[in-house]
Order: sequence, then C-alpha cells, then structure tokens
Amino acid sequence: MTKVAIIGFGGMGFIHYCAYKRIKDAKVIAVADVDIDKVKEKIDDEDINLYSSLEELLEYESPDMVDICTPTFTHAELSIKAMEKGVHVLCEKPMSLCEEDCQRMIDASIKYDRVLMVAHVARFGKENMYLKKVVDSGELGALKHLDMNRISYMPDWSWNDWMRDYEKSGGCLVDMSVHDFDLAQYMFGIPKKIGGVYHKMRDNNDFVTANLIYDGFDVTITGGWYSCEIPFRTGFLACFEKGYLEKVNGELYMNNEKVEFDTVIEEVDAGINISSTAGYKEEIEYFINCINSGSEPEIVLPESSKNSVAIARQIAKEAILI
Ligand SMILES: NC(=O)c1ccc[n+]([C@@H]2O[C@H](COP(=O)([O-])OP(=O)(O)OC[C@H]3O[C@@H](n4cnc5c(N)ncnc54)[C@H](O)[C@@H]3O)[C@@H](O)[C@H]2O)c1
Repeated sequence: MTKVAIIGFGGMGFIHYCAYKRIKDAKVIAVADVDIDKVKEKIDDEDINLYSSLEELLEYESPDMVDICTPTFTHAELSIKAMEKGVHVLCEKPMSLCEEDCQRMIDASIKYDRVLMVAHVARFGKENMYLKKVVDSGELGALKHLDMNRISYMPDWSWNDWMRDYEKSGGCLVDMSVHDFDLAQYMFGIPKKIGGVYHKMRDNNDFVTANLIYDGFDVTITGGWYSCEIPFRTGFLACFEKGYLEKVNGELYMNNEKVEFDTVIEEVDAGINISSTAGYKEEIEYFINCINSGSEPEIVLPESSKNSVAIARQIAKEAILI
C-alpha cells in the first residue's frame, strides 16, 4: 500500500483526494494545509491526520510520497523539502514559476534520488492520448495545423486570491495555457519559433493567442481567463493531410465520426472550474507505479515540465501586448 500525504487541500487537493479514493493500492494517511479548518469541512475520513505545514507533517508521518497541490509559487520549496526528507514528489503543474526553480527541483530529485513528476494531467486525458496516437502512427498523414483552446472565467476561488496575482501564478499563460504548451511540447518537441498576442492581467481579464511554429505545421493556442461568466471549456482541431480530429463539447470526432471511450467519469464538486477526476486518477496511478517499480516517469520527465514553463515564459516575454 502506497502511503500518501496531500499538501494543499484547496480545489486541486480535493480533486486528487477524490481520485485516491478510487485507487486500490494507495491510501491518503495525512494532509497538510495552512488552513486546517477548511480541510476538516471537506474530508470524510477520520483516520487521516491533519497538519498545518509540510514540515510538521514530516515530523510525525512517513509517507512514501507527497502530492503537492499548493499555489504554484510554493512548489519548488515544498518539493525540495520533501525530497530532502527522502519522500517521492508528485507536484501539480505548472512545475514552478521560472526555469531556475524548476532546475532546483530537478537537482534535488537527482541529489536525493527521489522520483519527481509534475502532474500534467492533460498528457493522461483520453482525447489527448488519442491525438498523440494519431500523430505518432501517421494514420491520417502529416499534421498540417493544430489549434488548441482552454477558456475559463477568471478564477475567483483561490486561497488569498493568489491566482489573480500575476507574480504568484504567472497568469493564464503559466497557470492554464501551460497545459497546451506542454501537450505541444510532449508531442512535437521545442518549437522552432514562438510568438503571440497577450492581454496581460488587468480589468479581471488575462488572455493569450500563441503561435508555436514547427517544420511544416504550426500550433495555435488560445487561452483565457475572462471577467464574464463563461463556463470552463477545452478543445482542439487537428488537421492532417488525410483527415481531421476534433475535440468539441467534451466529445472527440475523427472525420465527423464520434470516437467512443469506455472510461468512467466521476463528477466531483471541488468549487473550481474542474468537475471530474478524469485523467487525475490515471496520472496518479502512473506515478505510483513509477515509485514502486523504481522507474523514471517517462511520460512526464521533469526536464520536459521545465521546458513547458520556459515556453510559457518566453511567450509572456515576446508576445505583442494588447
Ligand atoms: N491540473 C489541473 O488541472 C489544475 C487545475 C487547477 C489548479 N491546478 C494547480 O494546482 C495548484 C493548486 O491550485 P488550486 O486551484 O487547488 O488552489 P487553491 O487556492 O484552491 O488551493 C491551494 C491550497 O493550498 C493551501 N496552502 C497555501 N500555501 C500552503 C503551504 N505553504 N502549505 C500547505 N498548504 C498551503 C491553501 O490553504 C489552499 O487550501 C496550483 O499549482 C494550480 O496551478 C492544476
């Protein structure tokens, strides 16, 4: 049984907690959060011990892994502290706010010989995995254009409103569109050229249209946190030489024919813009399998997560500001 401690029990910590309940060979033994009272309201297992910090938790508990679901600006310090104590780390995306901090996390995982994986859930999403399979197999010929979008209302639930603070979250570019930069980078590597148009956090809006240029095709990525109450959505359209693949309204179509999946979707109310454990259970199971088999997390190597932060940062720097 893999013993798990969740650090940070806000929106994402709760979603991970719901996912662990569906994983047979893992048990959440402890939770640390600076706001313990809030955790008590959401937790339904009295055997889970609660602490107000990672340091305190590690004084009394010996988890095999910590699952870090705290605000992004805390990821590097908390991950490094856990690895120093000999604990494997699954850390929510984005890895951190800058490449230097990502590198410090990578150095710690090497120094303390611990598995470090960033929870890039999009790499485990069934539609995205299908897209990667079609790209890799070449069954629709060469890719010509990929358009990805990820749109939400401005996050208004976060602890101390850290998400709306550009210095703490990196805005929608680093916090949300990083999912799509990461997917593009996972499938195609580092782009040859990067550009875009960015409306940087102001008036309760933060949105971007980014261009990632590769040899013979390009990827456009639209991301936005808007002041209007638009429901969260993600989608993509991939045009190949011999056909297309489209994710729209939560369904996947290949050349106008629906692609069916037999996965069970568990709906959860976490009070944020995510409403199911889909993909989270799979990424956690994959990480647990890596720590138990002593293998590298090949699907999401830390170096690759650092590259995704670097792409987001570069777009923030080079995009035309509007
Ligand atoms: N993978 C995804 O789809 C996805 C979706 C949303 C958020 N996230 C990421 O998950 C992380 C958390 O986001 P969230 O939406 O849950 O934020 P949140 O504000 O809802 O929750 C953060 C929690 O961490 C606690 N906290 C703050 N500092 C702490 C510390 N030093 N030690 C312990 N607890 C601390 C807060 O009390 C709060 O409960 C972020 O990095 C975010 O980018 C990922």
